[in-house]
Order: sequence, then structure tokens, then C-alpha cells
Amino acid sequence: MLLVPGQIVKYAFYVLEKYTTQTRDGYEYGVLTLSSNSTLKTAYVWEGHREILKSISEGDNLYVVAKGVETKNGVGLRILMVSQHIDQKLDAKRRIKWRKLLEILDLIRDCHLRALINYFLVRKDFLEAFVTSRAGFERHHTTEGGLLDHTVSLMELALLMIELHKPFYLNRDLLFTGAFLHDIGKTECFRAINNIPLLRHPEAGLIMVNRAVSGIDNFPNELAERLYNIVAYHHERPRHTKKVRIPECIVISHLDALDAEIDRIKRIGGRIKKPRELILPKENF
Ligand SMILES: [Fe+2]
Ligand SMILES: [Fe+2]
Repeated sequence: MLLVPGQIVKYAFYVLEKYTTQTRDGYEYGVLTLSSNSTLKTAYVWEGHREILKSISEGDNLYVVAKGVETKNGVGLRILMVSQHIDQKLDAKRRIKWRKLLEILDLIRDCHLRALINYFLVRKDFLEAFVTSRAGFERHHTTEGGLLDHTVSLMELALLMIELHKPFYLNRDLLFTGAFLHDIGKTECFRAINNIPLLRHPEAGLIMVNRAVSGIDNFPNELAERLYNIVAYHHERPRHTKKVRIPECIVISHLDALDAEIDRIKRIGGRIKKPRELILPKENF
């Protein structure tokens, strides 16, 4: 693979080696030696490198989006997005969803949000739960893999809103990241004993996002607060506090409810007894 500076590479690689090192000014970063078709590439991870490298093992198969950068030893890769390469583990339908998810995440430009996304995409245990969990037990996306289906639908709806409403005044990167992370708490709370969640999924998700943000150096506080707002309040307004929902949270909340409702109608539509069943949700999950 011939590489020139500035070139964008989207490719699957095996990890041969990983380590952290420092610039002359003392900035720490991660280095991966990647292999594909007997060619070796050196890749550099900047934002969030410590947690990202912790989750990557030698021998892992990674999907990488990276930019060619000039180094003293030739052209290397600066990692923009990195994920465990799980295509082979998914059936054809889910593989399409997974690729769509990566495609939309790749539109994000903010380097801190990219670091946060990479934090989740390289974690094998998280991905395993994320692509197999359901999004609900009764109301919507109730089959295995439903969480992935619902998340990708929400991200596609967000993309559609941005395209329909130009100029779009909300933060696009925040909207996509929020859509990706809004229900991740379900990967944890559905594993609780006898399917009885120990925490509601917005709270479980908030803990997960907070833990991830704490592992990324210099993650801006205000950006973190805005993300917490989306994850914590995508179902209901803040109570017992003066906080309000940010506009991105309100948009996600509406699109989320719409996607859940359409799926519920699709699911019960074929076996309804009373028309009221289509109108009134049985639960407010
Ligand atoms: Fe939710
Ligand atoms: Fe949702």
C-alpha cells in the first residue's frame, strides 16, 4: 500500500506491536505497528491514546480510518477512528447496520468526540454487548441486536434532519455522538440479575460515558456536560434541579421516541386486537 501525506486510509489491519512514547516536548502518544498484506505501517494515536491502547492487544484485527502523515522515517498514519473489526461476527443484515454506524461516526470532526468514540469502539466486551443487546423487552427493538438497529436508525434520522434543515444550527458532532451513546447503558443494565435492572439505562449510560471522559486527557468540561445532558435526559426533563435539556438532547429525545414507536407499531401491527393497542404504549421504557 503506497501512502502519501494527506491521504485518507480506511482499512483493516492486524496489530503487531503497541507502545507509548513521547515527543521532545514531553507529549505522550501511542504507536501501533499495523500489518496488512505483508506491508507494515506505523500508526499514531493522540487523543485518548492511553485508554485506547489499553483495550487493544497484539494480534487484534482493527478497522482503521487514518490520515497519511510525514514522519522522519517516511509516511505514517495518524489514527482518526479505530474499531475492533467485527464484520465477520455479524450476520449480513447487522453487518450493513454496523458499517452504516461507522460511516456516520466517521463524519464527526471534533477530535475529543472522536477519542471518546474510539474508546468504546476498541473495547471487545462493550462491542459484544452492544451488537447483541436488545433495546427493550416489551416496547421496541426487542430482539437480539435490537440496540444496534435502533442506534443506527437514530443516527440515520439525525443525519436526515441535518440534511433537511440547512443551515443546521445545532452541533452535528454532538448529535451523532449523542445518538451513538444515548442508550449504551442498556448494555449494562440488561445484564442485571433476572433482567431486573439495577439502574435505569440513562443513569447506567451516564456512568459509562463519565468513566470514558475521565480517561481522555483535556476533554473539554463543557462538551462533557453537554453529552451527559443528552445521555441522562433523553427520556425526561431534569427533575429536582434547575438544569434544562440542551437543544441536541431535545432533538434526540424526539427522534428516539419516533423510532421506538414506529418499531412498536411494526411489531404489534400484524396481531392487534383493538385499535387502541396501536395508540397507547404499554410501558414507558
Ligand atoms: Fe433510552
Ligand atoms: Fe433509544
